[in-house]
Amino acid sequence: MLKTHSCGELRPSHDGDAVTLAGWVHRRRDHGGLIFIDLRDHDGLTQVVFNPKEAAEAYAVADVSRGEYVLQIEGTVARRPKGTANPNLPTGEVEVRAHAVTILNEAKTPPFYIVGDSDVDELLRLKYRYLDLRRQRMHETMVMRHRVTKYIRDYLTERGFTEIETPCLTAPTPEGARDYLVPSRMQQGHFYALPQSPQQLKQLLMVAGFERYFQIARCFRDEDLRADRQPEFTQLDLEVSFVEEEDIMRLLEELHTGLTETVRPDLKMVKPFPRLSYEESVRRFGTDKPDLRFGLELVDLTDVLRESEFTIFRQAVALGGVVRAICVPGGATFSRKRIDELTTFVHGYGARGLVSVALLGEGGLDSLVQEEIRSPVAKYFTVEQVQAMARLAGANRGDMFLIVADTPATANKALDGLRREVSRRLKLADPDMLHFVLIYDFPMFEWHEEDERWYSVTHPFTQPRQEEMHLLESDPGAAHSRSYDLVCNGWELGGGSIRIHRREMQEEMFGILGIGLEEAQRRFGHLLEAFEYGAPPHGGFATGIDRTVALLAQQDDIREVMAFPKTKSASDPLTGAPAEVTPEQLAELHIAVTKAEGDAS
Ligand code: AMO
Repeated sequence: MLKTHSCGELRPSHDGDAVTLAGWVHRRRDHGGLIFIDLRDHDGLTQVVFNPKEAAEAYAVADVSRGEYVLQIEGTVARRPKGTANPNLPTGEVEVRAHAVTILNEAKTPPFYIVGDSDVDELLRLKYRYLDLRRQRMHETMVMRHRVTKYIRDYLTERGFTEIETPCLTAPTPEGARDYLVPSRMQQGHFYALPQSPQQLKQLLMVAGFERYFQIARCFRDEDLRADRQPEFTQLDLEVSFVEEEDIMRLLEELHTGLTETVRPDLKMVKPFPRLSYEESVRRFGTDKPDLRFGLELVDLTDVLRESEFTIFRQAVALGGVVRAICVPGGATFSRKRIDELTTFVHGYGARGLVSVALLGEGGLDSLVQEEIRSPVAKYFTVEQVQAMARLAGANRGDMFLIVADTPATANKALDGLRREVSRRLKLADPDMLHFVLIYDFPMFEWHEEDERWYSVTHPFTQPRQEEMHLLESDPGAAHSRSYDLVCNGWELGGGSIRIHRREMQEEMFGILGIGLEEAQRRFGHLLEAFEYGAPPHGGFATGIDRTVALLAQQDDIREVMAFPKTKSASDPLTGAPAEVTPEQLAELHIAVTKAEGDAS
């Protein structure tokens, strides 16, 4: 080793020891004839002092060293002089008095500060990711990520799970996103798909008798990117034989409780994890991914306002729509401008408008008078209606309703978004809390008007509830699946289900989804056939590791917890991927590019 100790290691007990350190120049300060260098390595920082009277040569080298130079320093550990200790640094009580120094490598001036956590343009950060990753926060995050996967591996290994790798070059599996395709050189015109998840292969491993499988699996999905979505991401993928929903949900809860308490014991959690049916979650929060750290629950005002004088409400209800709201405690102080901004915000969710109703004045609501109702459409509300609204919402004077009248789906989407936005502006969510919740009893299918067919809410391998089998033919929309999701702070962390393990039922499921027997055989013949060789009942789940780490690291974007993420347009400014390839490579793959970049035709 080029060093005897790390830069995070030295303590007063090392006083007088001769040491060799190696690392980067974090900071360099010239102080009245002495040079101080904070030397940084993966482990931490150590202050090194260069005194021209004690080591003239070393001093001269320190004098020409610049930020991010790589140095090897020999010296003696000494306690820092009285009053100069740095209590914020683990090595803050000592320094190293340098005898000799070697420049192992020079460094150009970095395009941004490595020191501190300054705001840097993201493209620049990604182009120079190796410098960005040098920063302390990024180091800590990567170490945390390692601790997360290590905890998971240890936890599952102790419980009899076997980690098994599945291939990246595989056949398409329907998880609902577009596939990344890889052309085959050997078989012209044929393509592998990169896995959107190892779903089918893990089910085949159950048929193979591995009763407890898991994998920290890389998955690929070509979809629109967001803060919680990358084209390439990592799942904790897991499958168990001979289980029911309760077994898996308990495993999910125990694993995530232990993980949080180990990696972030300082964060608050609600235990046991609350459980909400899909129906209750959507009714109370407008979504199946509710953030439970704050209230602002949805209130259904449809019955109160179905006879409203306000045409928009009355019409929405007459057309089968709903009138729903959130009630913001203390919201009566919102400015006109803020309400306008929130109105524009809900337009983004397709809602036609937002009606605000504030309750002014003092005292109980029984004494509310018309003049104390503040709303752009106040004249259409009666005192009785507003009192009824307040009773439903548990509202008081000083509070404000934000009302959306629309189809149930649009109203829910808009109010879910609004709930999050209001909480963000009013800082209602405790940032030091991880509020997990398990959602269960999902509908089996959803109807898509565009192509007039049913789609699986989870995926086609999910079992319907036994007692609802009869609905599959008569009323698929009313059937529920044996699936569950784990949600935390409004993010879907993962989901899973008890699977179909019989050929006939799987074929029936494909049939409902518009996949005929022939197509099913062609695309999923391997799975259907495997089910005929004694497939055990089984179920499992997958969670997003990137999302898990982001929540634990209190980051809003999963890119912050990935070493080499892609931009929102799925490119990598560091390596230049995706890149053009040579005509020879294309020829070898028998691929012709028909439309080049920038070709408008
Ligand atoms: P699902 O499609 O819900 O289920 O994915 C499971 C979890 O993977 C994470 N995830 C993502 N993370 C980052 N970027 C993405 N583009 C992305 N897409 C998904 C999420 C999500 O909850 N095979 C099933 C699981 C099962 O039934 O066992 C599956 O993949 O955290």
